[in-house]
Amino acid sequence: MNNKNYVLVGLQWGDEGKGKIVDMLSRDFDVVARYQGGANAGHTIIINGKKTVLHLIPSGIFTDNIICIIGNGTVIDPEALISEIELLEKDGLALTGRLFISKDAHIILPYHKIIDAINESKNDKIGTTKKGIGPAYFDKYARRGIKFSDFDNIRILKEKIAKNLKYLTEIFPDSEELKSLNPESLYNDLSGQYAKIDMYFAQTQYLINELIAEGRNVLLEGAQGALLDVDFGTYPYITSSNPTSGGACTGTGIPPTKINGVIGIVKAYTTRVGEGPFPTELFDDNGKKIAEIGAEFGATTGRPRRCGWLDLVALKYAVTINGVTELAMTKSDVLDSFEEIKVCTHYELNGEVIDTFPSNPFTLDYVNPVYKSFKGWMTDLKGNKEYSSLNQNFRSYVDFIEKYVNVPVKYISTGPDRADIIIK
Ligand code: GDP
Ligand code: IMO
Ligand code: MG
Repeated sequence: MNNKNYVLVGLQWGDEGKGKIVDMLSRDFDVVARYQGGANAGHTIIINGKKTVLHLIPSGIFTDNIICIIGNGTVIDPEALISEIELLEKDGLALTGRLFISKDAHIILPYHKIIDAINESKNDKIGTTKKGIGPAYFDKYARRGIKFSDFDNIRILKEKIAKNLKYLTEIFPDSEELKSLNPESLYNDLSGQYAKIDMYFAQTQYLINELIAEGRNVLLEGAQGALLDVDFGTYPYITSSNPTSGGACTGTGIPPTKINGVIGIVKAYTTRVGEGPFPTELFDDNGKKIAEIGAEFGATTGRPRRCGWLDLVALKYAVTINGVTELAMTKSDVLDSFEEIKVCTHYELNGEVIDTFPSNPFTLDYVNPVYKSFKGWMTDLKGNKEYSSLNQNFRSYVDFIEKYVNVPVKYISTGPDRADIIIK
């Protein structure tokens, strides 16, 4: 059987335009699944001018007949999920029979969001989205997390909620907000939410493998990006999951032997939201201009994104650890009016030139980027459909990136709408 199961990952610090590309590619797949993260993600989709930002539901939902799965590796805030479902239903989308949620996904409870905010109020903050992601994974790995499958045994579920709340109020004794919670109302609220979404739950590790066995093609939608990966990213300035392609297997139950390719999404420049090192960050007018033209504000929190030139040292690192087989370059149009465009090809560290990415953030703070300069294309990319008809300066930029990372750029996104795409 010739399945086509692909993982799609962000290759930078998130917000590369994954939502747009997943939506565009969905017509070639039967199933789209999220495998990690939660409502910290904000994936923007624009179809004929109508914009939707998805946080938990896979970006394939706007394509007819696509089955959407939220896998076991995600952490789910039921409140956020219900508002997203309601939003889509208001738009006329029927989700029953199309949306499946893993019973093994962990639940984000109100105390996780409170703890996220407490941690962020301290001096060594990460700049999280305050959606409770880190604290929920903290409970998961400490083996006291609560999964949707805990609804199979209400007595044990109630005991777990009470025990966790007691434990957490002991660790954070100064929090009035935590003290104001009580286990009964936490359970009552949660069970009310569960009743609203009960029909979507499944053992999705079986479902996804059954669909593959029937010959269906699966697209695994990464959230965040490689440089935010808990293992490979700029730790501790990371998210608490594995957005890299390996996470797609543990986060859904798809075996590695069933993955046929990895699509990497890269912006034509770099952005980052939150704290942490960013060697090619721009503090000059170029940075401001990218932010303005690219409308670089977080889709989840509305925070301004930090902007800089494309960093090929970081990109090659991300391509390597993800096993990227093809690239999609997004937001190329944002650079349309720049006379000079730079890319970082090396770092200087303590007088030495290096081309490897030091993931230690304190080392990364001290690297000096070495740039190669390109002549801008100074023409509108949007509206073009043929790669061969594009301006030569733009094509030289793409050629250089392809050669540097040794992976072809297959898709070029020239605007936010589903239709703004060139297939090379
Ligand atoms: P994601 O988290 O990776 O899905 O990306 P976001 O949705 O958070 O951020 C990407 C932003 O860029 C959104 O506002 C998109 O509508 C927009 N976008 C995506 N592709 C393009 C593009 O090629 N050109 C422009 N100008 N905007 C784009
Ligand atoms: P998408 O899927 C950009 C960042 C936060 C913070 C760090 C940890 O839209 O690309 P967390 O709330 O996850 O504990 O925050 O990770 N972050 C993102 N940045 N895009 C995202 O998702 C992000 N999700 C988390 O800003 O620096
Ligand atoms: Mg985003």
